[in-house]
Amino acid sequence: RTVYVNGDYLPEEDAKISIFDRSFLMADGVYEVTSVLGGKLIDFDGHAKRLERSLNELEMQKPEAFDDLLEIHRELVRANDIVDGMIYLQVSRGSAGDRDFAYPDASVKPTLVLFTQSKPGMADSPMAKTGMKVISIEDARWGRRDIKTVQLLYPSMGKMMAKAAGCDDAWLVEDGFVTEGTSNNAYIVKGDTIITRQLSNDILHGITRAAVLRFAREAQMKVEERSFTIDEAQDADEAYITSASTFVMPVVELDGKAIGTGKPGTVAARLREIYLEESR
Ligand code: PDD
Repeated sequence: RTVYVNGDYLPEEDAKISIFDRSFLMADGVYEVTSVLGGKLIDFDGHAKRLERSLNELEMQKPEAFDDLLEIHRELVRANDIVDGMIYLQVSRGSAGDRDFAYPDASVKPTLVLFTQSKPGMADSPMAKTGMKVISIEDARWGRRDIKTVQLLYPSMGKMMAKAAGCDDAWLVEDGFVTEGTSNNAYIVKGDTIITRQLSNDILHGITRAAVLRFAREAQMKVEERSFTIDEAQDADEAYITSASTFVMPVVELDGKAIGTGKPGTVAARLREIYLEESR
C-alpha cells in the first residue's frame, strides 16, 4: 500500500513518525474518514470543513498541505487502485522531541498522515439487509465530542462490550438520553417522523448525518432534531445509524428488544438508497 506522510508518498513499511508525536503520547490529534465508492470520493468537502473546524477548536496549526488534501486523496485512490473503500486522514500537533503537557510552539509543524483501506463492495454490506443489534452503555467520553479527536479508547471498549453481548455496536447514553453510537449518529423513526439528537458539543456533527437529513427533508419526510431515551427507541417503529463507513444502516434490536417488526425498516432502506444514489 502507498501511504502519505508529511509530503511524501511511500510504501507503508517505509512510513515513519516520531515516538514523541503528540498523537501517540497525548491523543493530541484529529482525524477524518472519507468513503470511496466506484473510485469517487464521498462528501470530501464536508470532511475537509469539519477537519478545519477540529483544528481551529484545538488551536492546532493547519498542515501546510491543507489546500492539497483533495489532490492527495485522489492520488492515494489512484496509487492503491481503490474502487470502494476508505481514506483515513490524521493530523497531530506534531513532535517537539520530548514529552510535555503544554503545546509546543508554532515552530513545531503538525504531522499529516493518510492511508487507504480497500473494501470492495462495501455499499452492498449484508448487514443492510439483516440490520444490526445494539446495546446501550453509559457515555463515558469527554465533553467535546464535536471535535473528531483520536481519543477512541472508550468507543473501542464500547464495541468490545457489544461484541461480548453478541451485538454489533453500542449506543451511548448520558443523563438518560442517547447521544450517538460508538462511531456513528443514532436515529429512530416513529410514525412518519425521523428523530435524531440535536447538534451540540455532546455529539460528532456527522457529515453523513447532514447529507441524510437534507435528503430526508427534500423527500418531504418529517425530521425532529431532539434527544430521545432508550425506552422511546425500543418503542419506535424503526432505528438506524449513519456514518461515512456504514452510510445508512438499520438497527433492529436494542438491549435485546426488537425494534418495530425486528426487520430493517422502510425509512432506513429508502434513505440508504437515496444516499447511495446521490453519492455515486
Ligand atoms: N466515525 N459519531 C461518531 C462518534 C463518529 O466517530 C462518527 C464517524 C460519526 C459519523 O460521522 P460521519 O458521518 O461524518 O462519518 C458520528 C468514523 C467513520 C470512524 O471513526 O471510523
